[in-house]
Amino acid sequence: MVDKLKKIWMEGEFVDWDDAKVHILTHSLHYGLGAFEGIRAYRRADGGTYVFRLKEHIDRLFDTCRLLAIQPRFTRQQVADATVETLRQNDMQEGYIRPLVYLGEGPMGVYAHDNPVRTTIVAWHWGAYLGKGATEAGIRAKISAFARHHINVGLPKAKMMGQYTNSSLAKREARIAGYNEAILLDPNGYVSEGSGENIFIVRRGRLITPPLSASILEGITRDTILTLAREEGIPAAEEMITRDQLYLADEAFFTGTAAEVTPIREVDDRAIGEGQVGAITRRLQQRFFGIVRGEDNAHPEWLTRV
Ligand SMILES: Cc1ncc(COP(=O)(O)O)c(C=O)c1O
Repeated sequence: MVDKLKKIWMEGEFVDWDDAKVHILTHSLHYGLGAFEGIRAYRRADGGTYVFRLKEHIDRLFDTCRLLAIQPRFTRQQVADATVETLRQNDMQEGYIRPLVYLGEGPMGVYAHDNPVRTTIVAWHWGAYLGKGATEAGIRAKISAFARHHINVGLPKAKMMGQYTNSSLAKREARIAGYNEAILLDPNGYVSEGSGENIFIVRRGRLITPPLSASILEGITRDTILTLAREEGIPAAEEMITRDQLYLADEAFFTGTAAEVTPIREVDDRAIGEGQVGAITRRLQQRFFGIVRGEDNAHPEWLTRV
């Protein structure tokens, strides 16, 4: 359950948490055509609060709108400023921020040409997404019976609301079966991503993640990890991954704004490597947390002070 905060930004103004309501005829509620983002803010060792890679998240929100051919009423700068202001209005030092661009009430056919395009931003406190201790000890994952969207069925580069029914089905299946997270294959059987994370494996010292031409979201944490791997001198490749390569991996981990860098210690009840957090995963995780929370000042361009 999300703890109630004070204010939610709706259409250019702050409203009280309990007043942030939408009409039942909100088009996106029926058909899922809408864009969203997930952004984190962290309190760093210097005591300041910083939003991580705000520009990239706002750009992806607007890219998703472009893919869906919907036009927000607000500019990128207005949405970025409102994101920071939402943290301030709620006295948040750390937290998760969720901008949404959705279609409001109006004609109810799926065409949705004349519905108003509404923008809102809500923030809440969110700890370790894949459970307490997940980033330290690693998690157990299951390959899902649900495939990720074919590139011509959905728009995998869009963070589009409706596409997340696929993620929810896979996640629920995995959780009910006793695992922490689902790994989805694409319709050709290649490993694509988690229900809300990109995936990396390490084999013989090489870091591998599926390429952007695969059925994956262009993860901002994925890009962060590829950048840090280059800086650490870890050979990294963007290649298709098969199920057996995943089973044979020495290390594996998920990346995502919510999941951060979470080691995968088991897939389908098979231990990954030694079944423990591997050395390369640990190194990249330390760099990541050093930048978002700690004293690693290597990438000031990734941080926006609140
Ligand atoms: C399906 C999916 N893949 C990957 C990611 C990771 O993306 P990011 O690192 O930008 O949060 C997310 C989360 O946003 C996601 O929902």
